[in-house]
Amino acid sequence: MTECQICGGQVTELVDFGRQPLSDAFRVPNDSSEEFFFRLAVGLCDSCTMAQLMEQVPREKMFHEDYPYHSSGSTVMRKHFELTARHFLETELSGPDPFVVEIGCNDGIMLRTVAAQGVRHLGVDPSGGVAEVARGLGVQVRTAFFEETTAREIAAEHGPADVVYAANTICHIPYLNSIFRGLDALLQPSGVFVFEDPYLGDIVERTSFDQIYDEHFYLFTARSVRAMARRHGFELVDVERLPVHGGEVRYTVARAGSRPVDAAVEALLAEEAARGLGEPATLRAFGDAVARIRTDLVALLSELRAQGKRVVAYGATAKSATVANYCGLGPDLVEFVSDTTPAKQGRLTPGTHIPVRPPEAFAEDHPDHALLFAWNHAEEIMAKERTFRDAGGRWILYVPDVHVV
Ligand code: SAM
Ligand code: TMP
Ligand code: ZN
Repeated sequence: MTECQICGGQVTELVDFGRQPLSDAFRVPNDSSEEFFFRLAVGLCDSCTMAQLMEQVPREKMFHEDYPYHSSGSTVMRKHFELTARHFLETELSGPDPFVVEIGCNDGIMLRTVAAQGVRHLGVDPSGGVAEVARGLGVQVRTAFFEETTAREIAAEHGPADVVYAANTICHIPYLNSIFRGLDALLQPSGVFVFEDPYLGDIVERTSFDQIYDEHFYLFTARSVRAMARRHGFELVDVERLPVHGGEVRYTVARAGSRPVDAAVEALLAEEAARGLGEPATLRAFGDAVARIRTDLVALLSELRAQGKRVVAYGATAKSATVANYCGLGPDLVEFVSDTTPAKQGRLTPGTHIPVRPPEAFAEDHPDHALLFAWNHAEEIMAKERTFRDAGGRWILYVPDVHVV
């Protein structure tokens, strides 16, 4: 039994993905050092309903100088964050001398637009390599883990923030109580904390189990986020569903009583209650659906191998570590993974040791099938790789079930 990292209640384990590596630890070939593994399992808190991992991976093992994920690798995401920045500039940041802090700014994908407008900002990210890329775009970055002490230091140096924003980062942080204490110190009385992360509602609906990996410590719902905010004198005042990364929710949190609560919050809470999202039975059924996907995917890939077909994968995503390790996909079933990220190319996927190659390897000699690990970027990728499909190539998808298109 694990203790809830938010409320101290008991967490009941519901789905076990077994032994998993660090999802972003791409290995240099012939590296004989021991690989790090942990047990990936997810449970629900009996008290506050927060879905969380049963085991924590030390943060320094995941986020460091060589963290390989560069947010700007996707055109769709660049557009999404440019629009996000413009939205803030027109609303919360339209007063005199506004100040915005971004937790997990990565390569500056959002803050570059804020910086270009000359608006005061600060990105905080512990991963030095991506932070340096952001600096090259004119973004101010502090290379650090955001937590209570960091927030207090920023407040002392820069004054209060109008907006604290984070995308695909808050779910990475087990120590959220420290984050909320920090927000209390850093936010203006009327300021907002806005964050967006994969939504448990979408994960269950699409059986997108690959959203569960070391870095994704929490799987949020409106209900669990509201309970967490309330523990710290904050209120969930708005929610917005986003189509990116396979379905996310953008949560807006403000000091209790400082803003009206939008009707969208009650609507999403009601929907979650109707679907039983906070119920153990819902996650157990999800676990059964996940096991079926494993059976179907392994059967399909084994059959293709028996037929002598060439299968590669597309997108060496962090998510794919869960799929590949849970399903036991190695170089015998998947020849290589095509990926645009230079830091991943020439390396081997964590745990399963499938070679990662640049997209040219995919284009030069089209395989028969491509397993779309980056299914969340399907539209962008399928449009870009039309010649593969035209030449008779087929995409294999496993969300929401195993199918070939
Ligand atoms: N915001 C970008 C996006 O949505 O594409 C980046 C998301 S990336 C998956 C998560 C980022 O959070 C990484 O760059 C990581 O270094 C950073 N991170 C992890 N823990 C953090 C913390 N405690 N404070 C600030 N950043 C953190
Ligand atoms: P993500 O799903 O976590 O955003 O990761 C996407 C991965 O897929 C990242 O390693 C970059 C890679 N990728 C490609 O190789 N080609 C593409 O067209 C896109 C959009 C991503
Ligand atoms: Zn709890």
